[in-house]
Amino acid sequence: MKIYIPATSANLGPGFDCLGLSLKFFNEVCIEKSTDLKIVVNGQGSNNIKFIENNFFVKIFYEILKNLQIEKQNYSFVFNNNIPFSRGLGSSSAVIVGAIASAYYFAKKEVNKNIVLNQALKYENHPDNIAPTCLGGFVCSKVYKDEVFSIKKDISNNLKAVIVIPNISMNTNKNRLILSNYVKFKDCVSNIINSSFLTACFLEQKYDLLHFASKDRLHEFKRMKNLPVLFKIQKFALENNALMSTLSGSGSSIFSLVYEEDAIKLKDKFKEKFPSFLTKVFEFDNKGFEIC
Ligand code: HSE
Repeated sequence: MKIYIPATSANLGPGFDCLGLSLKFFNEVCIEKSTDLKIVVNGQGSNNIKFIENNFFVKIFYEILKNLQIEKQNYSFVFNNNIPFSRGLGSSSAVIVGAIASAYYFAKKEVNKNIVLNQALKYENHPDNIAPTCLGGFVCSKVYKDEVFSIKKDISNNLKAVIVIPNISMNTNKNRLILSNYVKFKDCVSNIINSSFLTACFLEQKYDLLHFASKDRLHEFKRMKNLPVLFKIQKFALENNALMSTLSGSGSSIFSLVYEEDAIKLKDKFKEKFPSFLTKVFEFDNKGFEIC
């Protein structure tokens, strides 16, 4: 079997731990039964022996098979990893969701997206990346009594994502620890207003109004301060026709949403202004992971 697992961009500014969306930028994993365990990693992680030997995908895959009471047997795994690590593009969620879905497939169980999503919550307790990885589109999620509830909306195909990917990684755990336990009331209120308004814009496809709603006051400043050029990238995007521009997940990438006709122009401008950073244009994915 072959599974395609999309990259994601979470938080979307004010929607901390709640909002996310899915990109047409995939990791691809080919798995088949084999006489011995074989692991081949191409792309991201291919030169890291620890990553290959202590492969998190393989570990979760076997754990889920065991939970499903499937007798242990060997498999061959070929990973074509495109999603960069620690850049806020959902690489961990892709591993977790991909491993769980693949295990269900080999256990001959229905690969139900809601079941996969809820299993994934056991490995990643913020639903904002795992939900779009499973469902695709724009997703608003909430965890209630250890269960994820997600509402999804397809993203129009006249929109594109322009992502600036710095050559510096950011660690999600570290980037959560730097956040304050206490925040000002007016900052909370601002985030509630913006997150609600932004969600309504996606649900009603009123993308022109996103500009007013994508400002965050809870996490972006603290995180972006560690790589101040990110403020310049975000400002530059908003001055050059981006409908919104936010820190992707906990960083280090910057996600900008644009109309199709502005995507290449913004990408070229980014390349000129920030030549040391990789800039990519992606379509949005409205399907989530797919098994072929
Ligand atoms: N909501 C999460 C965070 C996304 O900002 O830490 C990364 O998992």
